[in-house]
Amino acid sequence: MSIHPVRDFILQDRPTDAPHRTAVSLFSGGGLSDLGYEMAGFRFVVQVENDQRRSAIGAENFPASQWLTGDVRDRANEIAAAYRQTTSRRLDLLVATPPCQGMSSSNPSRGKRQTPQSKALEEKNRLLLEVIPVARLLKPRVIVIENVRQVLTLEVEYDGEKVTAVDLLRGGLSEYEVFPSVVNVADYGVPQVRKRALVVAIRKNETCLEGMLSQKRLPVPYPTHAEQSSNGTQPWISIREWLEAMAYEPLDARSKEAARGTHPLHLVPAYGPDRYRQVSEIPAYSGRSAYDNDKCPACGRQGVGVDLVVCPNCGGVMCNRPFVERDGQPSLIRGFKSSYRRMSPGRPAYTITTNSSHIGSDFKIHPWENRVLSILECADLQTVPRFYDWTKAKAERTVYLIRNLIGEAFPTYFTYLHGQVLDKLLSDSAP
Ligand SMILES: C[S@@+](CC[C@H](N)C(=O)[O-])C[C@H]1O[C@@H](n2cnc3c(N)ncnc32)[C@H](O)[C@@H]1O
Repeated sequence: MSIHPVRDFILQDRPTDAPHRTAVSLFSGGGLSDLGYEMAGFRFVVQVENDQRRSAIGAENFPASQWLTGDVRDRANEIAAAYRQTTSRRLDLLVATPPCQGMSSSNPSRGKRQTPQSKALEEKNRLLLEVIPVARLLKPRVIVIENVRQVLTLEVEYDGEKVTAVDLLRGGLSEYEVFPSVVNVADYGVPQVRKRALVVAIRKNETCLEGMLSQKRLPVPYPTHAEQSSNGTQPWISIREWLEAMAYEPLDARSKEAARGTHPLHLVPAYGPDRYRQVSEIPAYSGRSAYDNDKCPACGRQGVGVDLVVCPNCGGVMCNRPFVERDGQPSLIRGFKSSYRRMSPGRPAYTITTNSSHIGSDFKIHPWENRVLSILECADLQTVPRFYDWTKAKAERTVYLIRNLIGEAFPTYFTYLHGQVLDKLLSDSAP
């Protein structure tokens, strides 16, 4: 059981070998997932991102690439021209990581897809089809699309018919063999459960296809870890093993000073007395939630019934449970079983999301310290190499932007492993 490959990956210096293949990415964010493909040998020539702040941060980290800032839609010609201006080489890899709020399980409107809001989100989900016009112009040898798992099954309306996004991709990419799959980064030694749909399309004239199809192989790395280890796979890395091995400086949300470490990204929000009590009274290593705190802070009565916000013994407010004041009356905040909860120490972290500092969201509290995970800890769980330059993001002075960028990323270590697989497959092929 070793966490070293992931730790070594994060802590290495930026590789100096010149990448030998070419790549273009759409919906590039800060380029965190692109970075893994780059480290596996793919040089990004063009990256496209709508948000100016994200593209400025990305451009800092990919100085040799052209960053087109703006909407991907209707820009296929511009993207192809920008690529051809730089190189006459055939494009090896087209990567698309469109936003996925519409189908993400962290979306509060899930299950209510008929509302106008969900219709708008469904439109957003169609963004993944934007790879088609770009692929028609640049004819990449491989296309990779990453998104939430629901893209594989969710049906969208098209020409009066209900079809999945993968059906539409198959229709639009008839010169490609399309391989849909689901990957969980915990299966590759990352101490985080993050399941994602990975659709890989390989051009039908690539010679690697014959072997892949006959052996029913998917163009993704073989898992090295599993929840229950067997047949040569190791068990998942737990969050406890990881945090202990990384030996982070302890932090505490009781004050601003205690909530900040020496590394500029090792910091967490500080809390007022009630919020701090809600967190600190959850026993360390218990994986329990603030809703389970059952000792009255005023009179010390144990076993106050669940769902009570007022102690039946003394009438004091159970301010160690998540509550709000409404019209002068305390009321419990309605939450899921997973909210206001410590991470279970014996399992990998739950999916790192854009709201990683919000304790009301799923499993956000540190397994034993009284706080959420720091930005640095989230970046490490997302396996962002420490050499990634956050200077531009810090200049924006918004901690939230950095947490967003980290939460949106597809882990860099996984894309590095995937890039190695793709590189090998392309080497097997006649160009
Ligand atoms: C899931 S994030 C990509 C994360 C990226 N792969 C990374 O690892 O850093 C999706 C990105 O698409 C951008 N985006 C959303 N709609 C867009 C559009 N119409 N055109 C271009 N970019 C868009 C968002 O600003 C966001 O940065």
